[in-house]
Amino acid sequence: MANEGVKELAVDNGRRRFLTATTAVVGAVGVGFAAAPFIASWQPSARAKLAGAPVTVDITGLQEGQRLVVEWRGQPVWIVKRSKAILDALASQDPRLRDPESKEDQQPAYIKGETRSFKPEISVLVGVCTHLGCAPEMVAEIRPEPFDPQWKGGYFCPCHKSRYDMAGRVYQGVPAPLNLLVPPHHYADEHTIVVGVDPQGAA
Ligand code: FES
Repeated sequence: MANEGVKELAVDNGRRRFLTATTAVVGAVGVGFAAAPFIASWQPSARAKLAGAPVTVDITGLQEGQRLVVEWRGQPVWIVKRSKAILDALASQDPRLRDPESKEDQQPAYIKGETRSFKPEISVLVGVCTHLGCAPEMVAEIRPEPFDPQWKGGYFCPCHKSRYDMAGRVYQGVPAPLNLLVPPHHYADEHTIVVGVDPQGAA
């Protein structure tokens, strides 16, 4: 789901640098490939959303290859279920990435590893390009693409051709300087993600 109209603003909030949106113009929710009637369980008020209220998302029906898009702090947050083939391909991309180990602090400290997620198959990312804040497209198929003949699935920002893998890790040689941001989040239960709140006990 695109987020056309999102205004761009570079934000430096201390240690974590990323681009964010100033206005809440993203559609309420959407999915990458298919409709998903199970995602209506969260609906904080518009005022609460702008204030950064947590967003609770039921991922019970999320299928492999699907992407949920929810709004948090006026930004699109993607929740993607990745296939084993996609996960298996992540390590092969490390030599091509700018920051394969995510040392640039674009994720909470409790998110570790090349999957950049709690559960390997479930990815949670802020869908805002770290170059100038455009909305990258999800191109999840593993196949040669005109913009990358070695493509293993990922996100492509058509604005200035930045590329990220399926963990949101940015490739070398593109304008985007940083990996996509992983927002603070945790699992309230096996199928419920709360975006905007760290896990209990997290530093
Ligand atoms: S905004 Fe994504 S490449 Fe420029």
